[in-house]
Amino acid sequence: MTPRTMKPSDGIAWVTGGSSGIGAALACRLASQGWTVAISARRKDKLEEVTSFSGKGRIIAVPVDLTDAKAVEAAIAGLEEREGPIALAVLNAGIYLPVQAEAPKFEDYRKTFEVNLSGTAACICALTPRMSARKTGQIAIVSSATSFGGMPTASAYGASKAALVNMAACLRIELHRHGVLVQAITPGFVETPAQDDNAFPKPFMVSAETAARRIASGLKSKRFEITFPRRFTWALKAMYALPYGWSLPLVRKQTGWDKPV
Ligand SMILES: NC(=O)c1ccc[n+]([C@@H]2O[C@H](COP(=O)([O-])OP(=O)(O)OC[C@H]3O[C@@H](n4cnc5c(N)ncnc54)[C@H](OP(=O)(O)O)[C@@H]3O)[C@@H](O)[C@H]2O)c1
Repeated sequence: MTPRTMKPSDGIAWVTGGSSGIGAALACRLASQGWTVAISARRKDKLEEVTSFSGKGRIIAVPVDLTDAKAVEAAIAGLEEREGPIALAVLNAGIYLPVQAEAPKFEDYRKTFEVNLSGTAACICALTPRMSARKTGQIAIVSSATSFGGMPTASAYGASKAALVNMAACLRIELHRHGVLVQAITPGFVETPAQDDNAFPKPFMVSAETAARRIASGLKSKRFEITFPRRFTWALKAMYALPYGWSLPLVRKQTGWDKPV
């Protein structure tokens, strides 16, 4: 079975990190297209706020800490029993903890990898056996433009996001013959609570609603990468296509990390 994009008649959608930012906006966008959308995150009160959406489809809260793989498996089993098969999954939950290279904290690396990588892996482990058995499904993993190459303060976050693109590429190759479509999402800057601690200049930042619109549109295509805003992400890709000897000093200059301390 050749993988194809999913539609509401194929089953429900599951969006992780649905309690705020991009995930909450995407859940509303998908619900307005007629999907039943299950949203997961840890904060029940925030999830409940998002479920108050009223429109064509509906949003239901499935609170779970994604770093607990057994809880994720139980949540997905229960969800599918109640609401039917998950046709579309957007694995969006993630954290950004800036790491200062001159005084790094191991805990920041550990937490970043635990949520961004292990949390996504827990979702994959719950999803792909079910989708492969059904010979259909669509999974999109939210990475970041930070995955393209080195950025200051991103030695934990950027490493986790680069690993997620690689994870998505491996899964796309393997799951193709099982009829499951896998995509990677690489946004530039999006205005969300995650950006509150980011002191960086944020060129071409888009709203969470714009990000949700771009993602929802990308989910209707079979292309591997959904990236936006392209005037930023394509320029970044072009810069990282240069030899490291050129691109890394350029990033240092562009970000202000060329100034003496
Ligand atoms: N904002 C940007 O500029 C930008 C750019 C590129 C990529 N991204 C990526 O987009 C995704 C969404 O980020 P955002 O900007 O929308 O940030 P956000 O508003 O902080 O949302 C992050 C979401 O992840 C959830 N989450 C965190 N830890 C979790 C855990 N252990 N278990 C379950 N859920 C957890 C949070 O919910 P709880 O706290 O309730 O658990 C929240 O719903 C992230 O993967 C981020 O890396 C963001």
